[in-house]
Amino acid sequence: MIAIRLPLFAVLAWPLDLGSFVTQHQSTNFRAAANRTADTLSVPPLFVNQSSLPHTVEVTITAAPTRLSLVPGSTTEVYAYNGRIPGPTLDVHEGDKLIVHFRNELPEPSTIHWHGIHLPASQDGSPLDPVAAGATHDYVFTIKAGTSGTYWYHPHLHRRTGYQIAKGLFGAFVVRAPDDPLPASLPDRVLILTDNRFGPDGSLDFPDPRSIEGQIDEENGREGNVVFVNGQVMPKITIRSGEVQRWRVINASAARIYRLAIPGQTLLHVGDDGGLFERPVEAKEILLANSERVELLVRGTAPPGTRTTLQTLPYDRYAPQTRPKDWNVTRDLLSLQYADAKPVAPIALPVGLRHIPVLDTANATATRVMSLGQGFINGRIMDMSRVDVSARIGATEIWQIENLVGMDHPFHLHGFHFQVLDRNGVPEPYRSWKDVVNVPKHETVRFIVHYEDFPGKWMFHCHILDHEDMGMMGILELN
Ligand code: C2O
Ligand code: CU
Repeated sequence: MIAIRLPLFAVLAWPLDLGSFVTQHQSTNFRAAANRTADTLSVPPLFVNQSSLPHTVEVTITAAPTRLSLVPGSTTEVYAYNGRIPGPTLDVHEGDKLIVHFRNELPEPSTIHWHGIHLPASQDGSPLDPVAAGATHDYVFTIKAGTSGTYWYHPHLHRRTGYQIAKGLFGAFVVRAPDDPLPASLPDRVLILTDNRFGPDGSLDFPDPRSIEGQIDEENGREGNVVFVNGQVMPKITIRSGEVQRWRVINASAARIYRLAIPGQTLLHVGDDGGLFERPVEAKEILLANSERVELLVRGTAPPGTRTTLQTLPYDRYAPQTRPKDWNVTRDLLSLQYADAKPVAPIALPVGLRHIPVLDTANATATRVMSLGQGFINGRIMDMSRVDVSARIGATEIWQIENLVGMDHPFHLHGFHFQVLDRNGVPEPYRSWKDVVNVPKHETVRFIVHYEDFPGKWMFHCHILDHEDMGMMGILELN
């Protein structure tokens, strides 16, 4: 896939509630704009690059137990990457070579999986390649051209992924394009959404799997009543009236699906898992299933001094028997405070973002039907020594994911981006690159994928972590 920069620049029309506010000053350096210091959102630091070679990013990631304060008034035994939650952000460019020295100082085996990154199977950090407790391991791979977007990294040890992520192991992974069509002056923020559940002493609540609570967690996926953005509860972001900010939102929750909205504002949805769309799409709300990412442009359409909130609206992904009582509650995630300052003039945004080539169904040589049961794919659970699907490098295939049960299952394929063709027979309105797609209860989603390179074994699975850990996963072998 080649990103072609379209020469179509124009001031993008948006519903202007701003009216007469928009006038005089255009700030050219928003990062330095006044009031930014009033943000309480913590931004995960970037890794220190240990290499001085060009186009080379060499970092050390240590996973280790530690104690951090996650909720006020207590500390919690956690696992952390480089001592913090979320882990530092990997911020790289297309074409960069990554060398990651992973030190596993956990009391158990682990891996680092580079969720959504197109790389050799041996570097994928899949359950097939555990790194023993106390061991070190190097991951080495090169970021492919055309794959700029928002990704994340997390452990992927079989049966322990949910536990290790809940303990604190996750971080953002941003890939930048040399020809990114969005203005570089836009504040560019990573927002990682997670939730967790605590005991009164601040310890993480993991019920005995044989208890009722444990079984409800296995069924629903483990949800927590405390919702975090970058590890913080209800942080604050400031915005100027008229300003535009670029938000990259990552759902790193085990099971919670977010239905994102900012009351009174229309969002501009510009990209998802595998980077930018061909053109922006106006959206009142955005559904973000587990492990999905979106890129949004948030436009400061309200008057100075006002305040609004990024919320998650109720979304019924549940089976009725185990649906939590408070499922229909709207939750506040983040407060958006308008600076008490003169509005800035709207910045010109491109109408065209990039070209996304069509994967043509006429080239598909097979349709893979995946029937999702509760914890099963095609009636089976994961067997690390079994190959569920074999295909040839160079093939283009359609996957038809049928959800047979009354609960949503977000379906993820490792290593390759795909294009959703249709959802329940309704053609996808626009093309995008994805690596996970939510399959709502009793619905069918079809996508098309081209295995351009990289032989080996690739996982596909439900990204509700409890389901994945119970074996709702299979293996695609390419040769
Ligand atoms: Cu986010 Cu198989 O992974
Ligand atoms: Cu599932």
